[in-house]
Amino acid sequence: MSILHRLLLFLRFGSLLAASSDESLVHRFNDGDDDDTPLPLVIWHGLGDAYNADGMRLVGELAEKAHPGTLVYPIRMDEYGPRDRYDSFIGNLTEHIAKACADIAAHPILSTAPAIDALGFSQGGQFLRAYVERCNKPPVRSLVTFGSQHNGIIRFGDCDTSDFICKIAMGLIHGSPWGSVQSTLVPAQYFRDPEQYEDYLKYSNFLADINNEREVKNATYKENIKKLESFVMYMFEEDEKVIPKETSWFEEVNGTEHTPLRARKLYTEDWLGLRELDRKGGLKFRTAPGAHMAISDELLMEVFDSFFGPLNRQRGRSEPRPGLGGDDEL
Ligand SMILES: *[C@@H]1O[C@H](CO)[C@@H](O)[C@H](O)[C@H]1NC(C)=O
Ligand SMILES: *[C@@H]1O[C@H](CO)[C@@H](O)[C@H](O)[C@H]1NC(C)=O
Ligand SMILES: *[C@@H]1O[C@H](CO)[C@@H](O)[C@H](O)[C@H]1NC(C)=O
Repeated sequence: MSILHRLLLFLRFGSLLAASSDESLVHRFNDGDDDDTPLPLVIWHGLGDAYNADGMRLVGELAEKAHPGTLVYPIRMDEYGPRDRYDSFIGNLTEHIAKACADIAAHPILSTAPAIDALGFSQGGQFLRAYVERCNKPPVRSLVTFGSQHNGIIRFGDCDTSDFICKIAMGLIHGSPWGSVQSTLVPAQYFRDPEQYEDYLKYSNFLADINNEREVKNATYKENIKKLESFVMYMFEEDEKVIPKETSWFEEVNGTEHTPLRARKLYTEDWLGLRELDRKGGLKFRTAPGAHMAISDELLMEVFDSFFGPLNRQRGRSEPRPGLGGDDEL
């Protein structure tokens, strides 16, 4: 795997990684007896981003504005931002999820919270779902995902001409998606081509498992998804990075055939608890206008207002409004 080695060397010594400030987003959590104390919020960023990047900091500030006193914890694989960004491309997702679980369980405030809220951007959305399914200690109340690949990707849209990491990563997946990339390349672990379904079931290191698609289902995954109060899935109307974009709604797209989640076995046989969650009104399919990860502050504020905040907050105070603008992130 010499090309992968070159990628690793490049990432370690290359200069394309923007320096990010080390300042932590973590605010003080006022965990007194006060019922108005907002639940902590964990955020998992997307491919090519870092936990302490400016965009993430702004999201944390908005969460604090919506619900003052919110402890915001951006999940990271490494305290050093450029290394955290590197880990969004490289690594074994079984280990990444286990690290997130361990970090949350060891955090002095998160570990004592009665519940937490979770916000996942792009691939971070399916990783947070894996946190719920595999760990859920502390349990997640509201899980909100934006442009996530819940049903995998067939391919990513074209990489930017200067994005060598993206190009090498995508090249490797298309070379041989079921080989060693399953333990080293993050997007390969949620690669899911319905035309290669048998190979996917056999070799997928992540998605086939957390989607309970194999013959033996994990009952814990279903129990934990059922415990969510809300699972809100945003799809970007003009998403051209994630193919097919309907994966953000768990839709099956096989060639020209589209099967919405509610018509799929995964739902009708309730492999994941999604049908039960839907019947109690907890499963929400939403669209955001614009391109992949083009989220406006207004939309984020609506989401924070509707789904996050104190444990005993009033529910469904407002419906999210569409928004525009934002940054470009996988
Ligand atoms: C199901 O998942 C849980 C949580 O990850 C794990 O502890 C357990 O071993 C799994 N069960 C099976 C049958 O794989
Ligand atoms: C990923 O890591 C887990 C835990 O260390 C290991 O059991 C598994 O075999 C690894 N996956 C691959 C494809 O190497
Ligand atoms: C997708 O369609 C092909 C035929 O075009 C079929 O062989 C394959 O099993 C389908 N995959 C799934 C997951 O339904």
